[in-house]
Amino acid sequence: MAAVTAVVISMLVLLLPGATVEGHNITSILAKFPEFSTFNHYLTITHLADDINNRQTITVCAVNNAGMSDLLSKHLSVYAMKNVLSLHVLLDYFGAKKLHQITNGTALAATMFQATGTASGSSGFVNITDLKGGKVGFGSEDTGRTDATFVKSLQEVPYNISVIQISSMLPSGEAEAPTPEPAAVNITSLMSAHGCKNFAEALLASDAMKTYEDNIDGGLSVFCPLDDAFKGFLPKYKNLTVGGKQSLLEYHGVPVYQSMSMLKSSNGLMNTLATDGASKYDFTVQNDGQEVTIKTSIVTAKIVGTLIDQQPLVIFTIDKVLMPKELFKAALSPAPAPAPEADAPTAESPKSSKKKKHKSPPVSDSPSDSPADSPEGDVADQEADSNNAAEIKGFRFAAVALCFWFASLVM
Ligand SMILES: *[C@@H]1O[C@H](CO)[C@@H](O)[C@H](O)[C@H]1NC(C)=O
Ligand SMILES: *[C@@H]1O[C@H](CO)[C@@H](O)[C@H](O)[C@H]1NC(C)=O
Ligand SMILES: *[C@@H]1O[C@H](CO)[C@@H](O)[C@H](O)[C@H]1NC(C)=O
Ligand SMILES: *[C@@H]1O[C@H](CO)[C@@H](O)[C@H](O)[C@H]1NC(C)=O
Ligand SMILES: *[C@@H]1O[C@H](CO)[C@@H](O)[C@H](O)[C@H]1NC(C)=O
Ligand SMILES: *[C@@H]1O[C@H](CO)[C@@H](O)[C@H](O)[C@H]1NC(C)=O
Repeated sequence: MAAVTAVVISMLVLLLPGATVEGHNITSILAKFPEFSTFNHYLTITHLADDINNRQTITVCAVNNAGMSDLLSKHLSVYAMKNVLSLHVLLDYFGAKKLHQITNGTALAATMFQATGTASGSSGFVNITDLKGGKVGFGSEDTGRTDATFVKSLQEVPYNISVIQISSMLPSGEAEAPTPEPAAVNITSLMSAHGCKNFAEALLASDAMKTYEDNIDGGLSVFCPLDDAFKGFLPKYKNLTVGGKQSLLEYHGVPVYQSMSMLKSSNGLMNTLATDGASKYDFTVQNDGQEVTIKTSIVTAKIVGTLIDQQPLVIFTIDKVLMPKELFKAALSPAPAPAPEADAPTAESPKSSKKKKHKSPPVSDSPSDSPADSPEGDVADQEADSNNAAEIKGFRFAAVALCFWFASLVM
């Protein structure tokens, strides 16, 4: 009887929503140890916590509040602080046992600092060495010293995340170096140098440039179409009014900082720099396997690279120009031949009256050159998705009900 009850209970637990996929949360792991509150606080404000939560097979080398005071007295910028802390996140799993049994007594571990591409040469690596007397030493490879030792294990979740305490922060000249303020970054020359010359030139020729500049300090994520995509789009772009061009360019910026891992964990509707009252100009961020896609009602673009990720500024490259329905409604509206229900679920009602900033009448667009992802396809996909979700919920409910019925029979 007890065994049956246990089985029923475990089935129930498995069926509860959310109980099945539970990743780690570094913030709540460290919250159990008040003496690490400073380290934890800086993981949060640098957004490293999100990156850590989205990775597996990692080791966080935490330092207690007393050990943080040296670092704090250096008054680093939040960007440099992020580099320093990311040097303390090893991209491999080291539990206490493994640390004491390193093959040949020494190992180099790549870190999140190395993974950002900011670090040069060996400066993104941490040297772990088994010392005499069972101690384990840690040092930033660029200093060639052993600056800290292993203190204790805080939490081990093999082989997802190991959180350990080390005696002090690892000094690293490179990680602590002042990084240029994002506002000082020339975003158009950065884009031009990395395959987005056409988009950069369009920006420079438009008032949208000022909108971008005004938003960098407060947080800005840019989705920048690669040259091939923008070149193919140029005939349509040239057809837009000055205001339409500005709205289209502003549609590729989001006024908040969203790193790749934040995008992955916060799917959903997103406003853009073009959003203005009645003009929604929004799009949907959605994971597609390991990829992140941006869906407008008209196109689905894929994030293909990152040009810069330096909070509060991040610039991604995408493989298609994002076409907002506010400007390309014609591509959505029923073409003479295809199914007329195409624009029912997603398209706006046709009142685009109250635009404060941008005067951008929708341009008409011949259905023949509508983009590869047809709106009909999109709508169908969305319906299929929500149907699936409903089915899964229904199934869960039925299964839970069945378990209760079964339990009541046997008890
Ligand atoms: C490890 O991470 C994966 C993916 O987030 C998760 O499914 C799994 O349950 C985790 N393992 C443990 C022991 O928490
Ligand atoms: C992690 O935990 C903290 C506090 O415990 C919470 O505020 C935060 O939303 C959690 N993050 C995720 C991704 O669940
Ligand atoms: C350990 O040392 C031996 C001999 O120097 C070498 O061949 C081997 O590759 C080392 N193993 C590791 C994991 O570094
Ligand atoms: C780590 O540092 C020690 C001491 O400086 C050195 O002997 C060892 O070779 C280094 N380990 C690796 C893997 O480079
Ligand atoms: C950024 O670089 C572009 C050339 O790509 C130049 O035209 C522009 O003036 C620069 N902007 C700033 C603010 O320096
Ligand atoms: C440009 O606009 C005109 C009239 O609005 C339309 O007929 C034409 O198809 C458009 N061209 C492109 C490339 O979108």
